[in-house]
Amino acid sequence: MSLLPQIDTQKIPQHVAIIMDGNGRWAKQKGMARVFGHKNGVKSVRESTEAARELGIKVLTLYAFSTENWNRPKKEVDTLMSLLVSSLKEELKTLQKNDIKLQTIGQLENLPKKAQKELKEVIEVTQNNTSMILNLALSYGSREEIVNTMKNISKKVVNKELSIEEIDEKIINNHLYTFNLPDVDLMIRTSGEKRISNFLLWQIAYAELYFTDVLWPDFRKEDFFKAILDYQHRERRFGKISEQISKP
Ligand code: IPE
Ligand code: IPE
Ligand code: MG
Repeated sequence: MSLLPQIDTQKIPQHVAIIMDGNGRWAKQKGMARVFGHKNGVKSVRESTEAARELGIKVLTLYAFSTENWNRPKKEVDTLMSLLVSSLKEELKTLQKNDIKLQTIGQLENLPKKAQKELKEVIEVTQNNTSMILNLALSYGSREEIVNTMKNISKKVVNKELSIEEIDEKIINNHLYTFNLPDVDLMIRTSGEKRISNFLLWQIAYAELYFTDVLWPDFRKEDFFKAILDYQHRERRFGKISEQISKP
């Protein structure tokens, strides 16, 4: 039976982020090469995007490739990049049909030219879609993002566009790659690892964290719904006490 009817439509998180982990181990369990796991992870991306869209989630951020992932064997990196290109080609129609806008965070200039071109195209075609943002983190590292943010703010201070006194949380937020997105409400990590791996450090300050042992290629819509249900049973206090939180 689907968990969907149990979900409270009044308590849907605005922004969900997923660390899609476990592709390599999934393949290994099947006696296959790691890239087989990556290929089978594409379906999980589709299912999660569909599930998020069905629930009315505004932003879904997927950690697809970290700054640290460049240190993997070249063959694996190459496969991940060509998978990115082929999936973008395949998914464009579905994004359009579902009114989903594609966006990215990270150092896109580090990606192969072909991937950059494909991304640019899909971003352009989907730019006026408003039902959901699918935000792909590519060559993304949270520390790199913070360095980049500091540089941009410093430049403005040097150019006297901004004074040091004016720097506050809002200014910092507005200079992050995620400047146009709300804070993360729920962060999911698959594969049983319980770490953040340099993902959205600033943006998850008050996110609820959800860890599941399911390996990414096995992650389906119902697993996504399960995470949302878990989230809905938590009390987000933001530093206050329970009695101060208004109950419906
Ligand atoms: C996640 O799966 C995909 C990427 C990091 C690109 P992994 O490739 O990290 O799989 P495991 O963690 O080795 O099983
Ligand atoms: C995090 O997974 C990056 C992505 C999911 C893209 P990793 O598998 O690279 O993280 P670590 O190395 O286990 O921390
Ligand atoms: Mg991993």
